[in-house]
Parts: sequence; structure tokens; C-alpha cells
Amino acid sequence: MLPWVQIDATAVPGSGKEMSLHRRGDVFSIRVGGVELMNNWIYGPECGLADIGCAALADPERPRILIGGLGMGFTLARCLSKLGPGARIVVSELVPAVVRWNETVLGALAGHPLNDARVTVVQGDVARLMRAEPGGFDAILLDVDNGPEGLSRASNDKLYGHGGLAAARKALRPGGVLAVWSLSEDQAFTARMKQAGFDVQENRYRQRRASARQMIFVGRPRPAEARAKASAGKAPAGKRPERKAKAKGASKPKPASKAKPAAKAKPAAKAKPTSTERVRRTRRPRD
Ligand SMILES: C[S@@+](CC[C@H](N)C(=O)[O-])C[C@H]1O[C@@H](n2cnc3c(N)ncnc32)[C@H](O)[C@@H]1O
Repeated sequence: MLPWVQIDATAVPGSGKEMSLHRRGDVFSIRVGGVELMNNWIYGPECGLADIGCAALADPERPRILIGGLGMGFTLARCLSKLGPGARIVVSELVPAVVRWNETVLGALAGHPLNDARVTVVQGDVARLMRAEPGGFDAILLDVDNGPEGLSRASNDKLYGHGGLAAARKALRPGGVLAVWSLSEDQAFTARMKQAGFDVQENRYRQRRASARQMIFVGRPRPAEARAKASAGKAPAGKRPERKAKAKGASKPKPASKAKPAAKAKPAAKAKPTSTERVRRTRRPRD
């Protein structure tokens, strides 16, 4: 079995954590502090986020969309495939090296979506971008972590708290939609979205080869009048308690005996991620 090889590593801005890029054959893995954030073997949820976000758009021909963050570019590529030439997509990516990886070694995985003229990449925190552009977006698609429990950095927690959700609501145009990907169900997050003035739809997303049920939360801002009625008589929402990042085991290579038979005549270098690595994503990379 081929070993994993570390290709690059960089600091995650605003955290003491390291993000690293690894490769085994044609499988790439982005890890934070040794824990896998994503790979290109299983990326169904990224496409699900784009599908659901784009389906909710009032006008798919000329929308302005904010995607946070870039990862391997699958959500971005899927949005591009669904939207017309008038669409504009802003991708917010916190880690400069991720953009560089997408411009080079990772670019082909999602078909070089950064080369599309409809795309603008902004390096920095998506929370800052949302605050900077009130009424700026028809859809905000958030996939910066493994869900409302931050993995990339602890300060991402604020994105999913009352302040972050209020900023997301303000950043939306009338009729806009916020979609948030999560590794698991999170009733407290649903409640916070409602408190922040969203009508919430929970889209369960079951992985094919895993028991985990993933979730894409979709929020549409309620009209101000309805929000005022809903909050009348309620105590002011308190601050969201600090939450710790999920401690998942570091990726371990799968024993060769469990490797998938080469039914599709894969090259010898083809390697398969371990079940730990498959926790998040659901599909094999495109050929
Ligand atoms: C799970 S990946 C995104 C996967 C992406 N949906 C795809 O299709 O490949 C998470 C990305 O969000 C970035 N990120 C983490 N925190 C962020 C933040 N606060 N603002 C912007 N990007 C962030 C990470 O560096 C990483 O590239």
C-alpha cells in the first residue's frame, strides 16, 4: 500500500493549528491538526450544499452567491454548473495556501473552477465578508468546518452563534437563503437559526457507506414583522456557550487486504481512504 505523503503545511490564521495537504496516489486529503477536514474521494455533501443552495434561489440566472470556504472547490464547481452566465460567486477562503493549492496541485479535481470568470476569491474570514456586505448576496453557502462545531479554528464558532447568524441574515438580499453544511444533526443550531430570524428547513443527507446522517440547514429570513411577533415576550437570547472542536481520530491508512478490487481498472497507485476519512464525504472523485 502506498503511504500518505505530506505535500505542504501552513498555519491556520487566527488559530494555533496547522493545516496540511497530503497525497496518496490520486487521493488528496486536507487536515487540520492531523484531523481530516476533507478529501477528494468522498465529496457528495459539497455538491449537496450547492444543489440545495442553488435550488433555493429566486433567480438562478443572475444571483450573487457567497461560498465559505474553498476547500477543494467542489461546492464552487457544482454551483457554476448550475448557474447561468450572469451569476457571480464570491468565495471566501481563510487560508491563503488553500487558494494556492487550488491554483496548482488540486485544481484539476473539480475542473479548475477558479478559472471561471464568474468567480472572485477573497482571502480572509467569511464572517468579516458577511459583515462588510449587508444585503450583498442571494445565497450564502457555508462549509468552513465539520459543521456548527468548529474544527478549522475555535473562533469559527462565532459564525454559528447568534452574532454570526444575525450577520448572515443581514448579508442576504430579500428572498435570500443561508445554507450550512454539518456533519451531524444539531438541534441547538436549528434553534439558534430560528432565534436569529430564519425559517429553517433541515435537509438530512445520508451517506451511502456510512451510518452518519449529515445535515444541510437552510434558512430563509422571516419578514421583520413576523420576527418581532416571534420574539415578543421572550427573554433576550444569551451568549452561545463555547464549544470544543470534535475530537476525531487522525487518519490511518486502510490495510491493503481491504482495498477495493480494481473493477474499474484503477492504476496501481490508486488508494482508498480509510473509514475514518470517509466520515465526511460520500462519493469517489470524478474520473
Ligand atoms: C471543508 S472545506 C470546504 C470544502 C468545500 N465546500 C469544497 O467543496 O471543497 C473548509 C474550507 O473552509 C476554510 N475556512 C475555514 N474557516 C474559514 C473562515 N472563517 N472563513 C473562510 N474560510 C474558512 C478552510 O480553510 C477550508 O478550505
